[in-house]
Amino acid sequence: MALIRISLIFVCLTSTYATSVLRNYENAKIELEEYIESKKQEINQRYRPLYHVAPPVGWMNDPNGFSFHNGEFHLFYQFYPYDSVWGPMHWGHVSSPDLVNWKQLPTALLPEQEQCFSGSAISQEDGLTLMYTGRTAVDYEPYFNETQYLAFSDDGINFYKYEGNPVLPRAPNGSPDFRDPKVWKYGDNYYVVIGSQTSDKRGRVLLYKSSDMKSWDFLSLLGESDGDMGYMWECPDFFELDGKFVLLMSPQGLQPQGDRYKNTHQTGYIIGDFSYDTNEFIHEVDFQEIDFGHDFYAATTTEANGKRYLIAWFSMWDVPHPEDSDGWAGMLTIVRELRLVGTRIIMKPVEEIITLRAEILTDSDIEPNQILEFGKAVELMIDSDINEETELLLEGREGGDPVWVRWDPEIRKVVIDRGYDDIRQVEWSPNESLKYRIFLDTTSLELFCGEGEVVLSSRVYALGGWKLTNVSNQTVRIKAYSLNRGTPE
Ligand SMILES: *[C@@H]1O[C@H](CO)[C@@H](O)[C@H](O)[C@H]1NC(C)=O
Ligand SMILES: *[C@@H]1O[C@H](CO)[C@@H](O)[C@H](O)[C@H]1NC(C)=O
Ligand SMILES: *[C@@H]1O[C@H](CO)[C@@H](O)[C@H](O)[C@H]1NC(C)=O
Ligand SMILES: *[C@@H]1O[C@H](CO)[C@@H](O)[C@H](O)[C@H]1NC(C)=O
Repeated sequence: MALIRISLIFVCLTSTYATSVLRNYENAKIELEEYIESKKQEINQRYRPLYHVAPPVGWMNDPNGFSFHNGEFHLFYQFYPYDSVWGPMHWGHVSSPDLVNWKQLPTALLPEQEQCFSGSAISQEDGLTLMYTGRTAVDYEPYFNETQYLAFSDDGINFYKYEGNPVLPRAPNGSPDFRDPKVWKYGDNYYVVIGSQTSDKRGRVLLYKSSDMKSWDFLSLLGESDGDMGYMWECPDFFELDGKFVLLMSPQGLQPQGDRYKNTHQTGYIIGDFSYDTNEFIHEVDFQEIDFGHDFYAATTTEANGKRYLIAWFSMWDVPHPEDSDGWAGMLTIVRELRLVGTRIIMKPVEEIITLRAEILTDSDIEPNQILEFGKAVELMIDSDINEETELLLEGREGGDPVWVRWDPEIRKVVIDRGYDDIRQVEWSPNESLKYRIFLDTTSLELFCGEGEVVLSSRVYALGGWKLTNVSNQTVRIKAYSLNRGTPE
């Protein structure tokens, strides 16, 4: 009797405690949204993008939880609202009907005992489920622990964390680096890939299976660094594309090799064959970078309408982010659609981006020393002779940093030169003529060559809209569109 009474009191106490924790969490969410609304007024607009997703205030890194749910795309991101540098991780949240017009939603996850590190989302009949890495501090080396958490939402806006967290407490080898779960469903089962490390510090990707997302069985290794392929493989993604399987990931610790691997960390993919019977991923084409620009990391994909879409962090670790003095830092690339052609992934701007076109600004050959002036958001279609050098100078109408886009027919490389740092260049084999599709936003350039065989994404801090000068010795045909705003102010 006494025992029963005691346990009843205990139940009451714990549920009161749970309710008050929940109430505190709900209050913290409301206070955070109020903070964001008021802080937004102080942001300097000079570098704010017009059609790239950026945090309303504060810091952003990896895109997370890219998914299609109830007819809408959801996109989350690593977010620290209180400063324009990295800090305890939240999940910011935007949604879109078409992958180009984005709406800001309330912050989806706030850190508690755990920081909410990167992860993914899965659309279910009864809501949207998030799976993410909970990073906690521990008092032994390396002073952090990474385990996998779940959070649920009925309405796709308000998320609550699963009380049984963590659902995946430990990597098979006990590695503390155990993060970035990407979950998907196949048949009646859930699968997840997670980035991790061997005990001698080589990157690897783990594959797990579950019938309910709460209890998981380790199946196999999808890949592992041989030592030259980096010490950690972050943000793995695994999907079928045009009859093959692709392991997309962001390895850390690759040494530069000629033109390749010049960023702080890289993002790329391995192509192969996979069987759900054996869980074996047989590599057929070794790691290749997926984008060749200065600022591209932590790419992630989702599938909808039979298409595979990719988005990435349009910044880089350990480089200056000049917008941080304005109260925010970091943004995401435009969404790209993927196809596998031979041994390469080609990336095209998402088709719907043409709905942002406002007016045609130019459709002509550009005359000697002619300078074209545009606004901050522009799409350029460029056509020139592949057998001659092409060089375009893009710079701010009010100063800031310029960028040169060059084609050298001798070495058949396309080059992005920001002037003040190392160039990025890559070999390209255009068909008959040199065709570029360039997307410029306030501080960014995304260059899609040909059909998307080669893509370079770099941040460029121009000021006051763009101007273009043909600095080559050949006629360059240019069509330019001004673009409407696609992301919230
Ligand atoms: C992390 O914490 C979980 C308990 O939540 C524990 O099972 C696991 O061993 C810890 N891992 C490391 C690397 O400390
Ligand atoms: C630009 O293109 C024209 C051909 O239309 C060419 O004659 C000229 O030299 C090029 N360069 C500059 C700097 O204008
Ligand atoms: C090359 O040209 C053909 C025909 O114009 C076109 O179908 C194909 O997509 C092009 N390939 C590339 C890689 O540009
Ligand atoms: C253009 O032609 C001039 C004169 O022939 C030459 O000095 C210059 O290097 C050429 N520029 C390019 C970009 O090919």
